[in-house]
Amino acid sequence: MSRRPRSTPKPPAPPLATLPVLRWAHGGDAVAMADDGPLAGLVVFVRGAVPGDVVRVAVETKKKRWARARLVAVERPSPERRVPPCAVQAACGGCPWMVGTREAQRASREAILLGEVRKSLIPGLTSDEDLAAKVRLVDVAGASEVGYRVRAKLAWRRGPSGAVAVGFMGKASHAFVPIPRCEVLTPALNDALPAIRRALAAEAADRGEVTLVAGDEGVAAWVEPTPGPGHPVGPEQVTVRFGARPFTASPRAFLQANAAVAGALVDRVEALARELGGAHAVELFAGAGLFTTALWAAGFAVDAYEVDPAARAGFEATRERLGVPAERGRWHASDLLLSGVPSPRPAAPPDLVLLDPPRAGAAELVPWIRASGARAVILVSCDVATAARDLALLAEGPEGFEVTRVDGYDMFPHTGHQEVLAVCVRRGVPTSS
Ligand SMILES: C[S@@+](CC[C@H](N)C(=O)[O-])C[C@H]1O[C@@H](n2cnc3c(N)ncnc32)[C@H](O)[C@@H]1O
Repeated sequence: MSRRPRSTPKPPAPPLATLPVLRWAHGGDAVAMADDGPLAGLVVFVRGAVPGDVVRVAVETKKKRWARARLVAVERPSPERRVPPCAVQAACGGCPWMVGTREAQRASREAILLGEVRKSLIPGLTSDEDLAAKVRLVDVAGASEVGYRVRAKLAWRRGPSGAVAVGFMGKASHAFVPIPRCEVLTPALNDALPAIRRALAAEAADRGEVTLVAGDEGVAAWVEPTPGPGHPVGPEQVTVRFGARPFTASPRAFLQANAAVAGALVDRVEALARELGGAHAVELFAGAGLFTTALWAAGFAVDAYEVDPAARAGFEATRERLGVPAERGRWHASDLLLSGVPSPRPAAPPDLVLLDPPRAGAAELVPWIRASGARAVILVSCDVATAARDLALLAEGPEGFEVTRVDGYDMFPHTGHQEVLAVCVRRGVPTSS
């Protein structure tokens, strides 16, 4: 007697719900809420929705206070919804807010900035009046929402024909998403993609990553095959212009990706440094010294600290290009988060501390900064939540700093991220910032 093969039972279909979308959250997802149905009373995170949409969703995860759901259909589109100017936007997931207008994106960034500052209870920055006077999203004239990235890290895969495709790892699927071009890369980077694909086809490996930087001399590429050692293709360093500032950059070290907005930030740092005054600055998380150029222009000697040795060559090249003597620009390899102190010790106590930490922030360094004697601190950060937390720590107690400004910059259009520039002045020190 033949037996029928046992079939595996189908998993139950996820519950569906229809929800109004309220806002975008820091991080990129939209937030929806329902009064009734299976998600009643929960905060529901939905990728791909726009504030003002009414959406049909399938529940993926349900916890006590929140849920995550997949967008199934837009039942009533928000007036702020638009067709994204990118064919692979949904699969790639790198630009989750591209389905909404630029105005809606800006309004959400400002609301997120205000919300995070308010939530962190920064001493002296809690009343509605102070928040309205000291916290805002800056409008950078001429900054574009497309074609803005001078640096990009792409994945690459060889297909059955031997040809190589470049692309991104999909945010939701973690699968490779090939791209013919990418709307947020500069035209120079997009134009270089065919030559990059051909160069990658000559690699022994079938997959890996490649980091590209577009500059005056062409496109510098750093190829990381899997397996195999990293190596350059094309020039090892190129000159990238941040506004009027030429800067020596390499794909091996950190580089601000949005040259127009980062250029405005560097100009602002120079103006602030002049206004705050002093002769000696300590710069923490200095990278290859983009903000050091602003401190030099404002007349400071700088002790710059950074963990990545690959950033040093660019720092020294830019210093020499600007004719700054070595004693006004000392670059130190230092793991700041491990030790909580810059090492070796700065040449002199700083008048000004500038810090630009990675996303996790720099809470470990706050005790050193508070004890450093610095009269002012400029904090640059790509994470609003950790920036607000660190500002609250800097502002604590009578010996702390007064936070005089918290500005957001639209550095990463189409994402839930923004750059923050905050100014802190030691209590009792007059300032006009
Ligand atoms: C947001 S980037 C800023 C770099 C530079 N200010 C710029 O604008 O080009 C943060 C920098 O912190 C460095 N970094 C990360 N962890 C570090 C650590 N533990 N100690 C020192 N530097 C670190 C990274 O290598 C990176 O260059």
